[in-house]
Amino acid sequence: MTTEERIDEAIRNPKNLGEMSGADAVGTAGSGDCGDMLRMWIKFKDDGGRRVIDRATFQSFGCQTAIAVASMATELIKGKTPQEALSMSGGELSAPLGPLPPMKIHCAQLVEGALKNALNGSPAPAPGSSAPTLADSLQPKGSVKIHFR
Ligand code: FES
Repeated sequence: MTTEERIDEAIRNPKNLGEMSGADAVGTAGSGDCGDMLRMWIKFKDDGGRRVIDRATFQSFGCQTAIAVASMATELIKGKTPQEALSMSGGELSAPLGPLPPMKIHCAQLVEGALKNALNGSPAPAPGSSAPTLADSLQPKGSVKIHFR
């Protein structure tokens, strides 16, 4: 199967899509290259005295490759300690999809950025409240001008 076919398949059935209520950590990253954004929620569990990732979910205003990589990444990091997950590069997170074309490397880095942002001590949402959705954070503050082309 080619990388494109794997990406298509991952997008048809994305895993762990959507915000998570009661998450322990949340991280957001934006790509300077294309303006896409991705947010990741993480829940930890105790595994015989080790703190490991129980599950992770994501929301994306991004391209299909970023969605496919995030879908893979949220599966790959399950059961890993925060340190183990932090050491994973965008290339490792996207490895199940096969080698990404050069102009899509930053899509995997976007996922890596959101993961690192979450694991590097982003404050957990207050008990009883859920973290804001990506859409909430993108709500324009004040007036915006919309240009139609
Ligand atoms: Fe920017 Fe994929 S094109 S994240």
